[in-house]
Amino acid sequence: MIKRHLNRRYPLDLDAWKSLKAHYLSDLKNTTIPSLFQSEGNRASDLLLEAAELKLDYSKNLLNNKTLKLFAMLLKEAKVKESVERMFSGENINASEKKPALHMALRSKLSDQIALNIEGVDNVWSTQERMEGFVSALHSGDVSGCTGKNIKNIVNIGIGGSELGPSMSILALRDYWVKDIKCHSVSNGDGIELLDLLSEIELEETLFIISSKSFSTKETIDNAIIARSVMEGRFGSRSIKHHFMGISVNKKAMHEFGIQADYQYKIADWVGGRFSLCSAIGLSLACIIGMQNFRKFLEGARTMDMHFRQAPYADNMPMMLAMIAIFNTNIIGSHSQAILTYNTRLRLFPAYLQQLHMESLGKSTRIDGEKVCLDTGGVIWGGAASDGQHSFYQLLHQGTQSIPIDFILPVSAVSQRDNYYNQANCLAQSEALMDGSLSERKEQIHVGDRSSNTILFDRISPEILGQLVALYEHKVFVQASIYGINPFDQYGVELGKKLADSLAETIEKEMPYKGKNLSTKKLIELIRDSEKDR
Ligand code: F6P
Repeated sequence: MIKRHLNRRYPLDLDAWKSLKAHYLSDLKNTTIPSLFQSEGNRASDLLLEAAELKLDYSKNLLNNKTLKLFAMLLKEAKVKESVERMFSGENINASEKKPALHMALRSKLSDQIALNIEGVDNVWSTQERMEGFVSALHSGDVSGCTGKNIKNIVNIGIGGSELGPSMSILALRDYWVKDIKCHSVSNGDGIELLDLLSEIELEETLFIISSKSFSTKETIDNAIIARSVMEGRFGSRSIKHHFMGISVNKKAMHEFGIQADYQYKIADWVGGRFSLCSAIGLSLACIIGMQNFRKFLEGARTMDMHFRQAPYADNMPMMLAMIAIFNTNIIGSHSQAILTYNTRLRLFPAYLQQLHMESLGKSTRIDGEKVCLDTGGVIWGGAASDGQHSFYQLLHQGTQSIPIDFILPVSAVSQRDNYYNQANCLAQSEALMDGSLSERKEQIHVGDRSSNTILFDRISPEILGQLVALYEHKVFVQASIYGINPFDQYGVELGKKLADSLAETIEKEMPYKGKNLSTKKLIELIRDSEKDR
């Protein structure tokens, strides 16, 4: 992905891209997905992939065998396999930040030999051992609060990648929770979540895990400071070392906050926030499901890593998902993609994928500094079905835009009896979206021909969740490789943070607004008026 000369019109100037576009216009644009099923008798079995324990049915997309050949050609011409090897070997593929991206090392075995020469990789296994020691001490009651009471509440204070992954996976793996320990999450910076929570839990029995790669994210540090002062107020400053843990690159900041050395977990700088769930950022998950299950989660992700690295283009699930997304977005012209999970436990998975995709692919500049000449991924959104069926599915069925969907369906659920209807709902929706239906009443017509993938697996286990996480991480990497962008930086979020710092001072100290934005000026006046009236 780096050290390559990209032509001005990359990737639009690649032969495979041009062929793919021409093929769409001549062979597919005027056909429909249902008609492809009629002409290709084995389509449902042919367009099915298996990787680890996941099955991907991608037959309900506007593509045929020729499209698949052109996908492989494009992956080859864009040198995606070479980029994958660069990532696994620890090259600085995060070129703008001069760092490797080695989340795969976090779940590797020593014998996999993933980037062993890169600083920090050799700490992966000793960190896991430390986590294991802590988790078993927590479960046996050897870890206690400052008054000697056992810890019954874990509060993860973090935001973005330091929260979405832990929250998503803790909910997903509810069937694996150890008894007697509950996990809570505090992310938003307005303090409300934290204050609500502090009034509900027994503080003597609470451990706060401050998860922040940088240990400087305002929301997280503000929440951590409030929690610390509440604990200090209740139990004195000696309570800090019993009740606060830190996970960060920044040891100095953890130390200055008052976190004792044994409760500090240092993560490597090559772990991107949204790729950090397999690092010590997953500590809250490990506390809740136990280290044995956390290791199974890592093993699941590792299995998908191996599949991604080794499987040929046509059988490679992350590559297939990425190519379908690119085809739908950049050739067919869809602007968003929905992730719909047919299991309540995966309710937070779409939000987790939203950050993974949108922070990684929301770029307008390529790795060579030139402006991109195509859309780099669209809006990712979604939720848990069947809630969505009773709110936004109307637009999916009859809206003017065609929105491709990933349906995610665990076959088994907590209650197998009720799950039949859940399974039926998932299949019914993708069928209705693709086949549509006729009616004499125009407002009742479903035009159909709407694309979807279905990812099906037995049940939500730690291993399978690990596979799902790695599947989408690698999908995003492939999309970025084809687009010629760096998926591992996020400079776009910085400007707003800088402006907020200066506006906070203006508002708090009632200073005159020094900026040039007249709308901001007016809004500050309205805020002040409203505060005066209170
Ligand atoms: O502001 C965006 C971001 O930097 C994300 O990329 C990251 O996951 C989140 O903030 C939290 O950052 P940190 O873990 O450093 O607190």
